Amino acid sequence: MSEEIRFDGKVAIVTGAGNGLGRAHALLLGSRGAKVVVNDLGVSTDGRGSSSAAADAVVAEIRAMGGEAVADHHSVTEGEKIVATALEAFGTVDILINNAGILRDTSFHKMTEEQWDLIQDVHVKGAFRLTHAVWPIMRDKGYGRIVMTASGAGIFGNFGQCNYSTAKSGLIGFANSLAIEGASKNIRVNTIAPIAASRMVIASGLFPEELHDKLKVEDVAPLVGWLCSEQCQDSGGLFEVGGGFHAKYRWERSQGRFLHSNTLSPELVRDNWERITRFDEHSVYHANGGESFKEFFARMESPAKGGNAFVDMEVAANAVSYLETEYDQNDAALYALAVGAAKDPLDRTELLYVNEFAGDDFRVLPTMAVLPATEVFLRAAKSGEPQLEGLNLPFAKGLHGEQYTVMYRPLPPKAKLKHTMRLKAAIDKGKSSVSILAIETTDEHGTPLFYNEVTGFYPGVPGAGLERVASEEINVAPDRAPDAVLADATEVNQALLYRLCGDWNPMHVDPDYAAKAGYEKPFLHGLCTFGYLGRHVIKAFCDNDSRLFKSVRARFASIVMPGDTLETRMWRESATRIIVEMRAVERDVLVLKNGAVELFESVPA
Ligand code: NAI
Repeated sequence: MSEEIRFDGKVAIVTGAGNGLGRAHALLLGSRGAKVVVNDLGVSTDGRGSSSAAADAVVAEIRAMGGEAVADHHSVTEGEKIVATALEAFGTVDILINNAGILRDTSFHKMTEEQWDLIQDVHVKGAFRLTHAVWPIMRDKGYGRIVMTASGAGIFGNFGQCNYSTAKSGLIGFANSLAIEGASKNIRVNTIAPIAASRMVIASGLFPEELHDKLKVEDVAPLVGWLCSEQCQDSGGLFEVGGGFHAKYRWERSQGRFLHSNTLSPELVRDNWERITRFDEHSVYHANGGESFKEFFARMESPAKGGNAFVDMEVAANAVSYLETEYDQNDAALYALAVGAAKDPLDRTELLYVNEFAGDDFRVLPTMAVLPATEVFLRAAKSGEPQLEGLNLPFAKGLHGEQYTVMYRPLPPKAKLKHTMRLKAAIDKGKSSVSILAIETTDEHGTPLFYNEVTGFYPGVPGAGLERVASEEINVAPDRAPDAVLADATEVNQALLYRLCGDWNPMHVDPDYAAKAGYEKPFLHGLCTFGYLGRHVIKAFCDNDSRLFKSVRARFASIVMPGDTLETRMWRESATRIIVEMRAVERDVLVLKNGAVELFESVPA
């Protein structure tokens, strides 16, 4: 077994440690080197009477094992006096287990204010007074472990326990906030919901007698011991423990729906009730409030304005689509070749994109991040399903209008990717429509990798009913000679190579298909051109270090024919911003315009 968990030199306060769970915690800590303050008021399970016997007996047990312990007979409602006992006996406090508790069960219609107050006083106020007194000590020493004792009644409620379940759920919220406030000072705060046949539980008749032997109070203490250990870094957790079973609880939120505020009414809520309350594979768990708000605000950005025969905005604005893909070094090398890298195999500058023997120096071209976005489109086209629920713009009429790709960090040599797609906007352009799809991508562990924005232009699909947004002339090329110009001739079979990266749209390979759509012959993928542009900027401004590439935006101005020479003209606007456009040289046609590339100042982690 691995190294034993010990508490040598640590001072622990355990409240209500004269009986049941508290006693088991105190014995475990005492047997492993902790100096223990055994607090207990010695009351009955409903809080009546008082006696020093219970605490004294447990102190004697710890001392008999060779451990160190002192008794404290105050009520937790005078928590600071218990902390004073610890300081007097041992000089500090490292561990606090808020465990003391009583019951005053009765159905709510019979509950008196006294019964209510007493329970809040012992459980919540008691935990507050002790924690408030140890908090500055723990902050000063940069160390602390605190355990709150909640209950299943606090999580789910229980008949006859309105007072108790309120107090117990209050402790969960208390611990969660303390965990946040204590994080920087190495104070970890967790909560347990125990199940054990203590005298309290036996008296309440909660479990059948035959279960009592199986639910020993000693079986709860090991989890508490782990939470109190120096090794355990968890904080803000809620753990169920009893009879050998150990588990963690968390909050789950349904995918939910945004209902547009212009049309909000109780009837609209009713009509969407099933979707609002449905838990399915799209439900989310947030580790903290920050994560939850981030997702909430991302959802709010989805507009819910208007709608027409092609776009049901109520549905599309709420729709989320998920996709998982993966790639390895072979895929990365194929992509690099397909966007013209390492054309001269003896020119070493771009070999690192195609040669896996480069080891740690192997690089993935950042513009490869566009491929999953393409895949989302193509999968939808193949299946005949809309790209997103409610978004029924005809795929066959769509043109790729604009592409925006942001790298959060360099692409690893291989990865399993998770993509989440939402509608950012659906726009009325008079006789045409525009959709902007936003796709966030993380690795398999949820680390954000990159973001794509795909603007689809649908000529001849009337946009009436959708939002009207004026076009902006952005990233205009300056009226001066470019700071850098790079050109590459594409091959006449370039599209046949690029399509192997996954962009199999027949428009780029099948002459009949292209002819039917009104084109002279298959033309090159816009995103292949886009890859050339990114590569040119990396060569010209990043000293060929693709990890410095932060983002790229460009509008597709005209189609590119395989065999065209692609010339990228680049204007440095600042140390980290380059304005770009691209021309098909032989035909003298602008093919990418209004483009900009942003660079990182240094390679991100
Ligand atoms: P228990 O009745 O065996 O032990 C509670 C101890 O707390 C007693 O020794 C009592 O004298 C002491 N105490 C009560 N009021 C006090 C006060 N004001 N100041 C100082 N000490 C005081 O009960 P058990 O089961 O060991 O309960 C421990 C904690 O676990 C309680 O907070 C209880 O609500 C909680 N809990 C227990 C569950 C179980 O299955 N045993 C289930 C869920 C929660």
